[in-house]
Amino acid sequence: MKEKIFLIGFMGSGKSAIGSDLAIKNNLKFIDIDEEIEKRTGQKIVNIFNDYGQDYFRKFEKKVLIEIIKNENIVVVATGGGIVLDEENRRLMKEAGKVIYLKASKETLYRRLKKSKVRPLLNVNNKKDEISRILDNRQNFYSLAADISIQVDNKSIKEIIEEINKALE
Ligand code: S3P
Repeated sequence: MKEKIFLIGFMGSGKSAIGSDLAIKNNLKFIDIDEEIEKRTGQKIVNIFNDYGQDYFRKFEKKVLIEIIKNENIVVVATGGGIVLDEENRRLMKEAGKVIYLKASKETLYRRLKKSKVRPLLNVNNKKDEISRILDNRQNFYSLAADISIQVDNKSIKEIIEEINKALE
């Protein structure tokens, strides 16, 4: 099976934008797990969280991840920021290819996320503190899951893609 490239990282780290451009540049097929979940359920992520809860979403996320891993045509995969919380997800991604962590500072993440309404976990009063709290809780999981870490602060998508391709050589 062709090795896959999984992009992991916090909400707002650029997984979807970088993943789709990386796939175009390398002429590979791309999939975004959140988009796939929305397509299959016909619902927005925020509504899935509200109506069915986070556990339901996580089960769906794992199911889609496993199907993608079985599909040989899909190579570049943008994941949701919480996919690394599950030990089996981390193992499955590592076994299926290279896991790239797009690492962003809290400042960058806050700047990008402060106006977002589509992240159910960040629909709280103090978004800055919540980003900081969730990232502190998850940092270890991103590091555990990653084969390669790329710092994304103050870099263009083009620069990040060049770094990824160099790291994958
Ligand atoms: C989540 C991140 C979101 C989406 C869901 C949960 C998370 O994806 O999967 O809202 O737990 O960090 P993005 O990282 O693409 O925003």
